[in-house]
Amino acid sequence: MPTIAIVGAGPGMGLAIARTFGRNGFDVALIARTQEKLDTLAGRLGDEGITAEAFTADIMDRPSLNAALEAAKERFGGIDVLEYSPAPHSPVPGFTMAAPSEATVENLQPQIEYTLYGAVAAARAVLPAMRAAGAGTLLFTTGGGSVDPVPMMGNVNAAGGALRNWVLNLGKELAGSGVHAAHVAINVWIGEGGPEGIPTATPEQIAPLYWELHRERGRSEAVFNA
Ligand SMILES: NC(=O)c1ccc[n+]([C@@H]2O[C@H](COP(=O)([O-])OP(=O)(O)OC[C@H]3O[C@@H](n4cnc5c(N)ncnc54)[C@H](OP(=O)(O)O)[C@@H]3O)[C@@H](O)[C@H]2O)c1
Repeated sequence: MPTIAIVGAGPGMGLAIARTFGRNGFDVALIARTQEKLDTLAGRLGDEGITAEAFTADIMDRPSLNAALEAAKERFGGIDVLEYSPAPHSPVPGFTMAAPSEATVENLQPQIEYTLYGAVAAARAVLPAMRAAGAGTLLFTTGGGSVDPVPMMGNVNAAGGALRNWVLNLGKELAGSGVHAAHVAINVWIGEGGPEGIPTATPEQIAPLYWELHRERGRSEAVFNA
């Protein structure tokens, strides 16, 4: 069975992407910081007939991320698709939003560490085997502000834009190698409870886009608009 590793697997996009790939014959490695939350997700997927297993790691702690991806490779015999979409659902020390003119090295650095460096580290853990096999897919998620930035999220969008730029360039480098890299910009609030006037969508409405990018392999970017 092919395997997808979801880095930053939670109850929103993580679960929906797991279901989408699981229903299409994939085993699922769920990676995030909290064992109990991951076990709950794995249990729900198991009830639906999808083989899923939890691997704890913090993307800010690169050795733990490498170890989780290595353990997932060992458990499932390899990783065919990597998907990166961590989301800080609870406050993270050092994370603040800053307008472009208020961006500082101090408030940008954690965003870059989280969004860009975590993604680069995850990709480096799986890419050599994918290149050797001449097959594999690397999918990375940001918000719509990575494409069309909004002033109140100046530092967050700078990090998302950096990830987007790197993914598009990785895709160019990998063209013809059999490994496909693509970026997904989610330009909506996911689920309920968003600010008034901001368009929303459910994870289930968005997740098929990831499957399309994996299957079609012709597009290096998709922007999900409501
Ligand atoms: N939510 C939105 O409205 C929205 C809008 C636009 C774009 N997006 C993007 O969509 C993607 C998915 O968002 P979502 O809200 O649906 O997420 P989700 O899949 O529901 O959950 C993401 C998971 O990431 C894990 N995580 C957070 N920090 C981590 C860390 N340092 N290391 C490892 N795992 C970590 C959390 O689990 P633990 O706490 O157990 O680590 C969390 O459950 C993200 O890339 C986000 O930026 C979200």
